[in-house]
Amino acid sequence: MAASETGLWCVVPAAGRGRRFDADRPKQHIGIAGKSLLTWTLERLAAHPRIAGFVVVLAADDPLAHARIGIFGKPALTVIGGAERADSVLAGLRGLPDTVADAAFVLVHDAARPCVRHADIDALIDRGMPAGGGLLAAPVRDTLKRADANGFVLETEPREARWRAMTPQMFRRAELTAALESARRDGVIVSDEAMAMERAAFKPLLVECSDDNIKVTTPADYFLVEYFLLRDSKSKDGK
Ligand code: CTP
Ligand code: MG
Repeated sequence: MAASETGLWCVVPAAGRGRRFDADRPKQHIGIAGKSLLTWTLERLAAHPRIAGFVVVLAADDPLAHARIGIFGKPALTVIGGAERADSVLAGLRGLPDTVADAAFVLVHDAARPCVRHADIDALIDRGMPAGGGLLAAPVRDTLKRADANGFVLETEPREARWRAMTPQMFRRAELTAALESARRDGVIVSDEAMAMERAAFKPLLVECSDDNIKVTTPADYFLVEYFLLRDSKSKDGK
């Protein structure tokens, strides 16, 4: 950590229902290799020396919403999320302590991405701060097809210059709050923080990250994530 840098706070949206994962509980609470998905993610983040604390955003009916969560001695506040991911992130930003200045950069990281690498978080912080904010992302590698309503190919899309947006995403507290509030006022559902910032005429920097940083979305992701987590617990290199 640079001498002048205090740690960053991280908002962790974990208030979703996990409909596509379709388990008997919200996916952030499913067990993988002995711990919940949320625990894996929070521990991975908390072990990063440049992350100072957390606001974990939980559903109103989540038993953890009224529990105290401590992670490796770092503060972890909990707040109640909303119907859309953007509502949850906004609730998380509002729940940041007053010690986090309006101009301070904050990270937003999906609870469902437990495999994010520490080196990628460092790259986001180091390259994203001078750029005014940015996000981890990976270039599209497959050939892209545009489909018609019946599932037939209309055309092949160029894949050059197309990226898959991931998290963490990092922006200044007040600017991100204002951008999310503006999207909500205009009735636009933004699927990530960068989209809200783009609407507010910012140009977020894409910082390339490892493909390991996958989001647990469907049951097919489970075994891949389990494999990465077990691999990383055997070797510190994965972090
Ligand atoms: N999330 C949230 N509040 C919501 C919706 C999503 O905090 N209203 C969180 C999820 O808990 C997850 C992250 O945002 O950690 C990414 O969202 P996604 O993968 O879409 O999770 P879910 O919305 O839970 O899944 P699904 O869309 O399949 O229902
Ligand atoms: Mg969702």
